[in-house]
Amino acid sequence: MKHLEGKVAVITGAASGIGRELAAACAAQGMKLVLADVDRDGLSATKDPMPGGIAVHTAQCDVSSVEAVQRLADLAFEEFGNVHLLFNNAGVAALGPVWSATPEDWTWVLGVNLLGVVNGIRSFVPRMMAAGDEGHIVNTASAAGLTAVAGSGAYCASKHAVVALSECLLKDLQLAGSPLKVNVLCPSLVKTAIVDSSRHRPVHLAATNPDSAPFDQRVRAGMEASEVSAADVASMTIQAIHDDEFYILPHPAVRLRVEERLRNIIGDQHHHQPDGLLGSTDEP
Ligand SMILES: NC(=O)c1ccc[n+]([C@@H]2O[C@H](COP(=O)([O-])OP(=O)(O)OC[C@H]3O[C@@H](n4cnc5c(N)ncnc54)[C@H](O)[C@@H]3O)[C@@H](O)[C@H]2O)c1
Repeated sequence: MKHLEGKVAVITGAASGIGRELAAACAAQGMKLVLADVDRDGLSATKDPMPGGIAVHTAQCDVSSVEAVQRLADLAFEEFGNVHLLFNNAGVAALGPVWSATPEDWTWVLGVNLLGVVNGIRSFVPRMMAAGDEGHIVNTASAAGLTAVAGSGAYCASKHAVVALSECLLKDLQLAGSPLKVNVLCPSLVKTAIVDSSRHRPVHLAATNPDSAPFDQRVRAGMEASEVSAADVASMTIQAIHDDEFYILPHPAVRLRVEERLRNIIGDQHHHQPDGLLGSTDEP
């Protein structure tokens, strides 16, 4: 999609990190914005520094709620008449070995990371299709959606599902003859607040993996070492929308890990790479 000025972007998880930078990048393109998150103060902190003249609506919205995302779509279409870029970006992480991940870890992580994207697709895509304009659905997965990462079973499962869902969505849109496009964003570690994502964890899902601490520490260290910023990820995402590149891999080393995994799957290479965090690229 080449021309973004005056078009409408909806961004979930816009109160922090990658979502905040996507909001700034879309504003810089002259887009109208609907910014959604559970964190109302964080939404204000995203919106307030934006230059005057940008049309911005903020909405408190839990993406794991079917009804809340439906209300978000109602707001966006009522305010702006259409949506051209839908960023299903909100996400959370719960770390630790698969065997000690709690039922609440699974419910929370799959509810936000996977069903949040599903809810966005269900509430927005039919209306975007009916409008008939060009547009993109941009789903934030992760390098952890393309590879396997120790200490990250629930997170990886949710992100692999988002990659598969995005691939299916593209095929479904093509089959339906829709001009809508899809991108799936797969960053490795980027310094954001995701390692503290339990700050917004619902009380009824509070029981967390008792063995998460060492993995949390490794993610923090990996984020500090990351050479790719959330702003870099946002600008690469805008470029990928412009160029219509489906897979967005901001960290080049992730390509090697994907290649290695696919070689293992097809039996082309008989070794195994068990480590790395959130698709960490500390190994070449
Ligand atoms: N930071 C990384 O290293 C990294 C790497 C790969 C993928 N990602 C993905 O990027 C996306 C953005 O994460 P980030 O790194 O910017 O983290 P972040 O914690 O800085 O931002 C995530 C935002 O999502 C919001 N959120 C959490 N639960 C929500 C819910 N139920 N409904 C609505 N909003 C909710 C949070 O309030 C926060 O503002 C996530 O999907 C994450 O999985 C991050």
